[in-house]
Amino acid sequence: MHLARSFVVSCLVATGLALPSSDITKEARSVKYAPKVPPLTTPWTDKVGTNPWPEYPRPLLQRKQWKNLNGIWKYQSAANLDAVQSPPFGQELEQEVLIPSCLESALSGIQADSALYSWFSTSFDVSPAWKGEQVVLNFGAVDYEATVFVNGKEAGFHRGGYFRFSLDVTEHLKFGEKNELLVFAHDPTDSDDYVIPIGKQTLRPSHIFYTPCSGIWQSVWLEAAPSNHITNLDIDANMHGQVNITVHSSAKDTSAQAEVTVHKDGKTVATHKGPTNKPFQFKVSSPKLWSPDSPELYDVTVKLGNDKVESYTGFRTISRGKVDGIERPLLNGEFIFMFGTLDQGYWPDGLYTPPNLEAMVYDLKFLKKLGFNMVRKHIKVETDLFYRACDEIGLLVIQDMPSLRPLQNVLPNEEQQVEFGRQMDLLVNQFKSYPSIVSWVVYNEGWGQITDYFPEFALTERVRQLDPTRLVDSTTGWFDHGAGDFSDNHHYANPQCGTPFYSTQSSPYDPSRIGFQGEFGGIGTNVSIEHLWNNQAAIDTIDQTYEIDETIDAWNYRSHRLLDELEDQIRLYACSGGVWTQTTDVEGEVNGLMTYDRRLERVDVKQWKEDIKALYEAAAARS
Ligand SMILES: *[C@@H]1O[C@H](CO)[C@@H](O)[C@H](O)[C@H]1NC(C)=O
Ligand SMILES: *[C@@H]1O[C@H](CO)[C@@H](O)[C@H](O)[C@H]1NC(C)=O
Repeated sequence: MHLARSFVVSCLVATGLALPSSDITKEARSVKYAPKVPPLTTPWTDKVGTNPWPEYPRPLLQRKQWKNLNGIWKYQSAANLDAVQSPPFGQELEQEVLIPSCLESALSGIQADSALYSWFSTSFDVSPAWKGEQVVLNFGAVDYEATVFVNGKEAGFHRGGYFRFSLDVTEHLKFGEKNELLVFAHDPTDSDDYVIPIGKQTLRPSHIFYTPCSGIWQSVWLEAAPSNHITNLDIDANMHGQVNITVHSSAKDTSAQAEVTVHKDGKTVATHKGPTNKPFQFKVSSPKLWSPDSPELYDVTVKLGNDKVESYTGFRTISRGKVDGIERPLLNGEFIFMFGTLDQGYWPDGLYTPPNLEAMVYDLKFLKKLGFNMVRKHIKVETDLFYRACDEIGLLVIQDMPSLRPLQNVLPNEEQQVEFGRQMDLLVNQFKSYPSIVSWVVYNEGWGQITDYFPEFALTERVRQLDPTRLVDSTTGWFDHGAGDFSDNHHYANPQCGTPFYSTQSSPYDPSRIGFQGEFGGIGTNVSIEHLWNNQAAIDTIDQTYEIDETIDAWNYRSHRLLDELEDQIRLYACSGGVWTQTTDVEGEVNGLMTYDRRLERVDVKQWKEDIKALYEAAAARS
């Protein structure tokens, strides 16, 4: 309150207005929301407005009765972790903030330098029609820890910056009155000796590490459901038409029966009843199979007592097996050459939060148009709507676990390693029902990977236990000790995919697993300042990480050579897929297929389409 007042005074003084101080006390208001100026905009920056992300946020478990809480909230920073002991109940926080957003982003209206400790508040009504129902408060993601208070009572705590959580807040609510929601967020990123899943975020951005994201960066919403309701659905549907489903319910027993109906184009193709909280199976006869070329999806309705939710699935099987003597990834029983980009999911205006759905889908459609059939979601987890878009567009997803601190400089202690495993479970459990996800990645380039014993073996087993339907890439790049389904090389700029040659940090291709190029390419060109992340430190390092080509023509020539080399490796050796670095420029990296603002495409579309097509043809000739 005190800070809020002094801020208002300084603003008023700055604009030449003067009010008697007693009036200021009464009139003290949070500083109004306005987006800050980002170091670079996108075509969507101005379209964000103050009601962002209106879409239902959880496409695999949709309920009719819901209320979006996104929009303008209040924010103020806190001094330390102890602040959570004295919540500012009933107080007007200092500044307005856009939810969802990263506090460090311009779109938040805050553009904080660092935001380790933060308070957020808003108020909401609950419809009288919801009386007697259970009211659930859902957060898409809060980075990194959230303590949630409703009407002065602690309603829950969650740790893990990339994951969804739901709190039953029924007992704290007041119907017909304003309800106060207060959230304390603690996001240490890489401060002190914290070793937590952060991906590319750092408090000291440079080279391949970027601005962090703190706070409520995905949608917040309320929903009403009967007291015994469906809390989660695990659905796997395979190429033989078998559906394996677990209907999780808030009543943890298995006695209640759930009814599952599968529809296609409005017609019911199967109905089946089964227990809750444990898997059951049934069949759909000759379903249209899901694949990148034909992303067929089926609607699924699940009823449990008075609860009814809508979901969907796709019928497909992911496996591996020998094709003409070489270990291959198989989709629906056939070798699929997986070709995608390293997809970081960073935005100059919103950082981790895309400006809107259209912007997020724009990147995916751009990749699809060029002929990519996959994205590697790089050490970040997206909103559920991203995975739905991949399901609909037909893009396979290789999903990385967000890594701990990079390289080997700060490794996790025992407790931090346990927490890494726990959050990996959250990743797999929350996202395993998206048909497009083909593979989970445990470690990227040895980041946070303990090497005095090989934890990737146990972690890989753990992922297989939670999800036996997908492949596991235990170590993409560098410290490979033989775990998982892939023998995955990283090399810049040229690939070494399933080949008898390799280089520093890599291992020779292991024919007992799938030969894969988890990263290559990475070449870039400098661009004019209007397409650059306008931050001097970033600009100063542009030529310090990746190959820089003088012109875009030279870049396309080099791209052609590198893709041609990959094609050779498919024809001559045992290459089963590759990941081109990268979809877009990010901060000081100028190596995207398009620039960070998505306004300039480096790709010669015709040439790239031909080169990518040639990869699939070379692979088809080996099957
Ligand atoms: C069904 O899925 C569960 C995991 O959700 C798995 O443990 C089980 O083995 C699957 N059953 C069948 C028959 O595929
Ligand atoms: C890249 O371009 C920016 C301006 O667009 C310039 O300031 C910078 O010096 C250039 N860097 C290199 C390595 O060419």
